[in-house]
Amino acid sequence: MEHNKKQHQLLSRIATNDGHGENSPYFDGWKAYDSDPYHPTNNPNGVIQMGLAENQLSFDLIQEWVVKNPTASICTAEGVSDFKDIAIFQDYHGLPKFRQAVARFMEKVRGDKVSFDPDRIVMSGGATGAQETLAFCLADPGEAFLVPTPYYPAFDRDLRWRTGVQLLPIVCESSNDFKLTREAMETAYDKAQESNIRVKGLLLNNPSNPLGTVMDRETLQEAANFITEKNIHLVCDEIYAATVFSQPGFISIAEIVQENPLKINPELVHIVYSLSKDLGFPGFRVGILYSYNDSVVNCARKMSSFGLVSTQTQQLIASMLSDEIFVEKFIAESSERLSKRYNYFTRGLSQVGIGSLNSNAGLYFWMDLRRLLKEQTTDGEMELWRVIINEVKLNVSPGSSFHCSEPGWFRVCFANMDDETVRVALRRIRNFVLQDKSAAKKQCRRRSKLEISLSFRRRDDIIMGNVMSPHSPMSSPLVQ
Ligand SMILES: Cc1ncc(COP(=O)(O)O)c(C=O)c1O
Repeated sequence: MEHNKKQHQLLSRIATNDGHGENSPYFDGWKAYDSDPYHPTNNPNGVIQMGLAENQLSFDLIQEWVVKNPTASICTAEGVSDFKDIAIFQDYHGLPKFRQAVARFMEKVRGDKVSFDPDRIVMSGGATGAQETLAFCLADPGEAFLVPTPYYPAFDRDLRWRTGVQLLPIVCESSNDFKLTREAMETAYDKAQESNIRVKGLLLNNPSNPLGTVMDRETLQEAANFITEKNIHLVCDEIYAATVFSQPGFISIAEIVQENPLKINPELVHIVYSLSKDLGFPGFRVGILYSYNDSVVNCARKMSSFGLVSTQTQQLIASMLSDEIFVEKFIAESSERLSKRYNYFTRGLSQVGIGSLNSNAGLYFWMDLRRLLKEQTTDGEMELWRVIINEVKLNVSPGSSFHCSEPGWFRVCFANMDDETVRVALRRIRNFVLQDKSAAKKQCRRRSKLEISLSFRRRDDIIMGNVMSPHSPMSSPLVQ
C-alpha cells in the first residue's frame, strides 16, 4: 500500500487519475462478460455481450468483396507489387486516393446532399482520436464543451482525460423523447457561466449513441443558431450516419452549414467520423476529422502524427470505397439487416410489455425498464442491472453510465451477435420479465388474503433467487 503510494508520487497526474473511466459500470459489464462469455455449446449459461456497439451483420458482403478484389491488398500475389511503395509511405496527409474515397463515401452516406473537400479530411486513430484532437485544437484545460444527455460514456475519456477539458451536461428528458431544446442548452450554458467555466463548444452525436435517434432539421438549426449566437464551436459526431434504417432520414450538420452560408459561420463547425460503425471496422482504427476551419485542419493534421491510419489500411479502404456499386449495395443491405434485427428484438420485448424509445438508427436501442425498478433512483437502477448481469446473464448498459438524468433506461446492443444468440438473449429477458410479473402477482394475492405480510426484504430474496434465473426449470422457451 505504502509502496503503491510512493510509486504514484513518481508518476504524472494523468497516469494516476481515474479519467479513463475504466471503473464505470459500462466497462464493469464488459468485465463480467469477459470472465464468463456465452457460447452456444461450450458455455450456454454464460453472459451474452449486449454492451458492444459493433456492426457484424454484413461481414459476408465485405468478405465477398475482398475475395473478388485481390489487388486491393498488398499481401496477395496480385497486390504485392505495391508493397514497397505502400510500406514506405509516411506522409501525414494520407494517400490522396484514400482521402478522395473517404470524402466521396461521406457524401454518399449523406444521400449526396453535401460535398466534402478531400483536402479537409484529417486522419486519426478512430473517432476516439478525432475527438481528442479536436478537444486539443479548440479548448484549453478547464474550458468546457456542453453535451446533451444521455451521451456515449467514452466521451469523458476521449475529450477530457488527457486534455483537461471539461464536459458539462445539457439535461434532456424522456418527457419529449430526450430531444435537445434551446431552453436546455441555455440552462447548461448559464450554469457554466455562474461557475465561471468558459464554454468553448457544443458536442452533438447524431445519430445518437445511446438513443438510436436522429436529430430533426429544426433541432440542428437551433443548435447552429445557438453556437453562432454564443460564438462557440459545434462538434458533430456522425459516426452512425449510415446505420439509419428507416424514416426519418439522417440530416448531417454539413447540410445545415451548406444551406445557410450566411447565417452560420462554417469555421465553427467540425465533423467527427469513422468507419468503425458504418462499415463495422473498429479494428482498422480509421477515424476522420473534417473541419471547415483552415487553422483547425492544419493543426489537427500535425497532431495526426500521433494516430495515423496505417498505409496498408488506407490502400485497402481506398479501393473498397471507390467501388461505388459495392458501396451502394452495402449501405442498402446493411440498413435492411439492422432494421430486421431492431424490429425482431423490440417487437419481442413489447409483447411482454417492455417498451423502448422509438428509434431508427444505431446498433442498439434504449430499453425502458423503469417500471421494474424497486426505487426510482440510480441505486435502484444499479440493483436491477446487477440482477440482469448476474442472473439473466445479459450485459446491457445502465442509463446512468450514459449520464442519463432518469433511472431505469438501459442500452441494448443488437448487431454484434448472430441470429441464434439474439434468440437466446430475447428469451432470457422475456422470461425474466414474465417471472417478475408472476412473482409480483403472487405476492399481491398473498397480501390481499392477508396470509403473510411479505416484507420487501423477503420479496427481494424470492426475486433474487432461482425464480428469476434464466436457467431455472421455470424458464420455458418463449421464442423459437
Ligand atoms: C458516438 C461514438 N463516438 C465515437 C466512438 C469511438 O469510435 P472509434 O472506434 O472510431 O474510435 C464510438 C464507439 O462506440 C461512439 O459510439
